[in-house]
Amino acid sequence: MKFLKLLLLFIAVQMHAQQGGMWIPSLLEGMNETEMKNLGMKMSASDIYDVNNSSLKDAVPQFNGGCTAEVISSKGLLLTNHHCGFGEIQSHSTVENDYLTDGFWAMKLEDELPNKDLEVTFIVKIEDVTSQILNGVAALGTEEEKQKKIQENISNLNKTYPRESFQGVKIRTFYEGNQYMLFVTESYTDIRLVGAPPSSIGKFGSDTDNWVWPRHTGDFSLFRIYADKNNRPADYSKDNVPYTPKHFFPVSLDGISEDDFTLVFGYPGRTTEYLPAVAVAQIVNETNPAKIEIRDKALKVADGFMRKDKAIKIQYAAKYASIANYWKKWIGETQGLTKSNAVQVKKDQEAAFQQKVLQAGKQVEYGNLLADFDKNYKDILPYTLSRDYFMEVVLRNTELLSLGFKLYQLEQIQAMRGDQAFNDRKNNLRDGSGEFYKDFNAQVDEKVFEQLIELYLNKSPQQFIPENLKNTNIAQLTTSVYGTSKMTTYDGLKELLTGDTQTVLKNLNNDKGYQLVKSLGEAFLKNVNPKFEEINTKLSALQRTYMKAQLELNKDARIFPDANSTLRVTYGKVKGYEPRDAVAYEPVTYFDGVIEKYVPGDYEFDVSQKLIDLYNKKDYGPYGENGKMPVNFIGTNHTTGGNSGSPAIDAHGNLIGLNFDRVWEGTMSDIYYDPAICRNIMVDMRYVLFIIDKYAGAKNLIDEMKLVHPKSKNQTTNKQKVKAKSKKN
Ligand code: ARG
Ligand code: GLU
Repeated sequence: MKFLKLLLLFIAVQMHAQQGGMWIPSLLEGMNETEMKNLGMKMSASDIYDVNNSSLKDAVPQFNGGCTAEVISSKGLLLTNHHCGFGEIQSHSTVENDYLTDGFWAMKLEDELPNKDLEVTFIVKIEDVTSQILNGVAALGTEEEKQKKIQENISNLNKTYPRESFQGVKIRTFYEGNQYMLFVTESYTDIRLVGAPPSSIGKFGSDTDNWVWPRHTGDFSLFRIYADKNNRPADYSKDNVPYTPKHFFPVSLDGISEDDFTLVFGYPGRTTEYLPAVAVAQIVNETNPAKIEIRDKALKVADGFMRKDKAIKIQYAAKYASIANYWKKWIGETQGLTKSNAVQVKKDQEAAFQQKVLQAGKQVEYGNLLADFDKNYKDILPYTLSRDYFMEVVLRNTELLSLGFKLYQLEQIQAMRGDQAFNDRKNNLRDGSGEFYKDFNAQVDEKVFEQLIELYLNKSPQQFIPENLKNTNIAQLTTSVYGTSKMTTYDGLKELLTGDTQTVLKNLNNDKGYQLVKSLGEAFLKNVNPKFEEINTKLSALQRTYMKAQLELNKDARIFPDANSTLRVTYGKVKGYEPRDAVAYEPVTYFDGVIEKYVPGDYEFDVSQKLIDLYNKKDYGPYGENGKMPVNFIGTNHTTGGNSGSPAIDAHGNLIGLNFDRVWEGTMSDIYYDPAICRNIMVDMRYVLFIIDKYAGAKNLIDEMKLVHPKSKNQTTNKQKVKAKSKKN
């Protein structure tokens, strides 16, 4: 008996010691701070987030909405992933100056390249505004009324909250509507490209290695923030000056060892960790397989063309990578959820939850939650699936159809908002579609269409297929659309969009491609989406109550809010893992592994002669470790999409790595985090420095950084030193 008690206690402590979780930086004091210190952290919660003094958060902006970056010098030097800066690197590239292939390095400020539509956003302050936002909501009857009131409260507070003229305000919900946080932000828009390694380093391993450990990718690029003379945000001007940050990260030269404390700070996009078992089962059995099958076909078609034709390969490279990224993630996720028995684990948790509800005498409030989930998830399934087919087939993977859908929206704008709005949008579409056609090949798209429309017609829920498309001959449909539609060429599109409103609408409605999109779009907007939204609103309300119940009934549990693109802290240790029986992965990869993977001339695994020479010379300077050059490492930090480019920080607040991916076996961590196998992948900062210094010869950049040796004795926390040095705001 006593043994059993001890065992249970041990298990409880173990459970507690397992990490996972993405935490709000202003709320770390207490449980998180204690846990972090137990893991080896030497800083305090206020070193990470502080409103009145500079803190780590002042060096971690969101990069262009979808990624994270960090400031690494007193002159606003900014580090993020190569795949996050890819669009900018590509847009500066020409055949003569191909920065994607050869890399780019600005040796002085004047050489840095400005970018249109690139923005980084810092968080100045975070405030809990739950009571203001939920004010007057509880008294309202229906869910729709409640949501309307919440939106009103949000927009009022947004308008009235005090701020400087150059600051913004964002309000976001946490814990599915149980908490609201306000963020005061500062966005800089003059961001210049400073450096990028060639893709053979920055994208080494490409799609084959994507989501996979062991990994050998130097996935980084460098930018610089420019500000006006007062260090405030300003649009591009040649008179702007490098931004002076409130804080920047010193870079550690001492590297990492297994079990070292790590903290990853960034903007994770979206997770759904608190779904009921029934929802996870639908992802595993229904929606992921459907989406995977669609992308599988689209990718195979594109790959076939890309391998045979160089021009097509260039046209489709970025699109292919982006479609392949989540296709591959979903496969890993489905496998991981299956292997870890996530559905059964959730069911067991739900049984325990039901017990707790009983014990607490809360049957009236919470007793029907799980049954309601079951019913509504069952009801929503055909709508979810139909919506996924529409999204993937029409909006995402068949280019002619996704362009066609924009034309269909144009017709709707005319009906709803009149000729002026119609003309504005029409001209925008006509002038803006050049980019689309530059990378469009009608032959590729026709083959994609033929495969995908077949899936849509045969496999999506049949009750929502438009009548006129039932029993269609797919080969005939394909020939008639791609053989006659004006949308297959830019000239054709311009022709379609020329003339007065009536002419344009008439021409559109005579076009076979347009007719098809219109019937698909109408079926979706009339028969699928409204009902989907209706049930989904109910599910959101259930999810909110379920969250509230869990917070209430498990007072001591580590319950973190799902990711919502706001600034979060996640922490853990450098750690290997055992993906399957008899296989153990080390936590660090080395330069030797790059050479092992080298396939001359291959589009994924080629290595430049210059890098091979450096390998042969073993001239690693201060960046090597016992004659070896570390490249990537993994840790138990709970990250997701959006954490790309996030700083990996050591116990003292120095930069040790740059987050860029997760391991294959752990891609299910957006839904179910298993600490045994979920790992994030980072580039070792020493590899970044080595490439900048020894490969690119950009000593100027190394010189403006602050390189430190935190592991040698005598060193006080670097955070304090930098704090004393850097300018106070
Ligand atoms: N898997 C990483 C992320 O989710 C890297 C993606 C970019 N690389 C690629 N091969 N597609 O974004
Ligand atoms: N590569 C991802 C990104 O772009 C990060 C990897 C992940 O999803 O964890 O944000």
